[in-house]
Parts: sequence; structure tokens; C-alpha cells
Amino acid sequence: MHAAYTSQMPRTARSLPIYSGAPVDTLQRPLRDVRLSVTDRCNFRCSYCMPAEIFGPDFAFLPRAELLTFEELALVARELVALGARTLRITGGEPLVRRDLEQLVALLRALDASEALSGEPLDIALTTNGSLLAKLAAPLRAAGLNRITVSLDSLSPATFTRMSGSALPLESVLEGIAAATAAGFSGIKLNAVIRRGVNDADVPALATFAREGGHTLRLIEYMDVGSSNGWRLDEVVPASEILAQLHARYPLEALAPSRPGEVANRYRYLDRRGEIGLIASVSAPFCGDCTRARVSADGQLYTCLFASEGSDLKRYLRPVPDAAALRDALHARWSARDDRYSEIRDAETANRLPKVEMFRVGG
Ligand code: GTP
Ligand code: 5AD
Ligand code: SF4
Ligand code: SF4
Repeated sequence: MHAAYTSQMPRTARSLPIYSGAPVDTLQRPLRDVRLSVTDRCNFRCSYCMPAEIFGPDFAFLPRAELLTFEELALVARELVALGARTLRITGGEPLVRRDLEQLVALLRALDASEALSGEPLDIALTTNGSLLAKLAAPLRAAGLNRITVSLDSLSPATFTRMSGSALPLESVLEGIAAATAAGFSGIKLNAVIRRGVNDADVPALATFAREGGHTLRLIEYMDVGSSNGWRLDEVVPASEILAQLHARYPLEALAPSRPGEVANRYRYLDRRGEIGLIASVSAPFCGDCTRARVSADGQLYTCLFASEGSDLKRYLRPVPDAAALRDALHARWSARDDRYSEIRDAETANRLPKVEMFRVGG
């Protein structure tokens, strides 16, 4: 077997420039990436995120009045940009179930005029399950969205349905990916969460599909996020094992990170037909580089995917917004941040309750 893929590349968030007035946390990590969740609802019931047995027809999702308006979300984003954020990723639940999402994209795009950016445009991205993308890809692009990541766990209709827990067919996601390509999005990322015994055999087919379509496949270790998915370590396929399986089919070599704080380890096919990413959040945590903040649809700020509690931002937005107080609160919260859950995870912490659910804070 070719050994090229074993080399390790250094990467560190601490080498990022700190902008004037921007905070670093207690581990010297700046704020760079923000995930804005626009809804906690989803038209899928992925077994690893919102298992249908728990999230049935009677489950109480957030009432509409609790959701931040697009204007409120844009205000929070503006203050986070002032504190160093340069990538804004729209997530859910499934973000495309929220009506008129392109209006939010346009409001976020307008933040390019922020003083903090000195003319450098924001990177605005979307994580979606793809099932509603066919009609929405073109308007989202027109509104200023830069990048799309689509979750795609299998190309076998039966396995896809087992993973997505939804009656929506695989075809709807494939049509969404095709529409995004036709709308002009390039470098689309396809995220696959790999569960042992469920979709681990699907990796080579996913790789072939991604290579042929010009997309970047990212293979993700199944994580113990939230408190509902019944996570077990023996269902995690370590990234090294996924990589070895893939390398046997398509020889690979390691690539340098494209930027500090990137979650995926990147590899290039030796035949130069694209690249893949391995997200080893369980076997090789990347907290040391974590520059991500998450805002839930009801305006809670979470500084870690595995946090138990958020900080309420709505109190600075209603009844009337107080941007200065909001910025101070965000600055103080980021400065006090000491999260590094994945680095200190063990059997005891993995089962400690409660942990925020992934569908509240985005992927
Ligand atoms: P870009 O590099 O901006 O394209 O995005 P990204 O690399 O952050 O990717 P994306 O948002 O698609 O995240 C991919 C997956 O990585 C998520 O769905 C999670 O499963 C995992 N992930 C992302 N961020 C974190 C994080 O902060 N902690 C952990 N433990 N996992 C994360
Ligand atoms: N483990 C890993 N990734 C997860 N996601 C959701 N739940 C999990 C989990 N338990 C990620 C997937 C999906 C995105 C929205 O969230 O990447 O594509
Ligand atoms: Fe929905 Fe995404 Fe969670 Fe699946 S992973 S249930 S598509 S929010
Ligand atoms: Fe960041 Fe928390 Fe994930 Fe570590 S576990 S990478 S601190 S979100």
C-alpha cells in the first residue's frame, strides 16, 4: 500500500492574526467562524442527530416567536464580525425549511460594508441536507451565498433512507446537488457521517460520485453530540480506518491545511482528480484550533458543540436592540471561553447530560 497519506501537517489557530479590538479565548484562540442556526426543525430524522423514535410528531420545536428574525440574526452576525468572524455558515436543523432564507443571505452579504472587514468580503456558507435545494440553489446564489455543503451519507437508496429516517428520496438530494452545480456553486462539499455496520461500506461509491461531479467528499467520525442518539464508541469508524479503505481504492497523499482551524484533514487523489477530507473529531480532536461560535435559532450563543448551556443573546435584542451591550457580552463570553470537550472526552464525559443537540446549533 502507498504510504503517502500518513504524513501529518501542522496547523494552529494561534498563528491567525488578531484584529484590533478582537478577543482571544483563554486558550489564545481567536473567533473566526460563526454558525447561525435559523431553525431547529428538519424534514429528515437522521439516526445520529434526531432519531425518529424521540423526535416524533408531538415533539415541541421552538415556537415561531422565539426564533430570531433575519434582522436580529444579521445584527448578531455584524457584532461577531466586529470581533473577528470572517466565515458565516447558515445551519439548522435544516436551514432550507425556513422560508425566504435568501433574504437572510442578502442581509449577511450587506455586512461586507462593515468597517472591520476593510473591503474583504465575508465567506458565507450553508450546510443543508439538500432535499429542498433544487429550487433554492439559484436564488441563494443570486443573494450572495458563496459555498454549499450537502450532507450525503449513502448512494444506496435503502441505506440512505435508513440513515435519513425520512420518506424523502435520495433522488431529491442528488437533484439538489445538481441544481447547486448548475447555479454556479463550485467546490461543493459532501458530508458523510460514517457509522460502523450502517454505511461504512459506502465510502468508495461516495468517493467515486464526488470525484466525478467535481465535489469534495468529507468523511466524518460519528460523534457523541447531544443526548439522544445513543452514541457508542464501537460505532465510530476511526478516520485512519476510513482512509486506509479509501487509499486501497484510490491512492491518496496528504495536503497542507488550506487555513488554520480547518476541521478536516485534507488528502489529494494521486491521479489529481480532486481531494477528500477526513474529520476525525473523536480519534484526533482539533479543539486547539477551534475558532467556532454557534448561535441557536432562538439566540443562544454556544462556544462548543458539546456545551450544556448557551448564553442568552436575545436579552440584548428585545424589546429593542442594544448593539453596544451585545458586543460587550460577546466579547466577554469569548474571552472567558475554555472549551475543549473533544480533547478531554472520556467514557464519563461522553455520557454526561445534558449536552446541546446538534440540530439546535448546526453541524
Ligand atoms: P468549511 O471548512 O468552512 O467548509 O467548514 P467546516 O470545515 O467547518 O465544515 P462543516 O461545517 O461542514 O463541518 C463538518 C462537520 O465537522 C460537522 O458537521 C461536524 O460533524 C464536524 N464539526 C464541525 N465543527 C466542529 C467542531 O467545532 N467540533 C467538532 N467536534 N466537530 C465539528
Ligand atoms: N456526528 C457527526 N456529525 C454529525 N452531524 C450531525 N450529527 C452528527 C454526529 N452525531 C453533522 C453531519 C451533518 C451535519 C448537519 O451535522 O455532518 O451533515
Ligand atoms: Fe436534519 Fe441535518 Fe440533523 Fe439530519 S443531521 S436530522 S438533516 S439537521
Ligand atoms: Fe471546538 Fe468544542 Fe468541537 Fe473542541 S469539541 S473542536 S472546542 S466545538
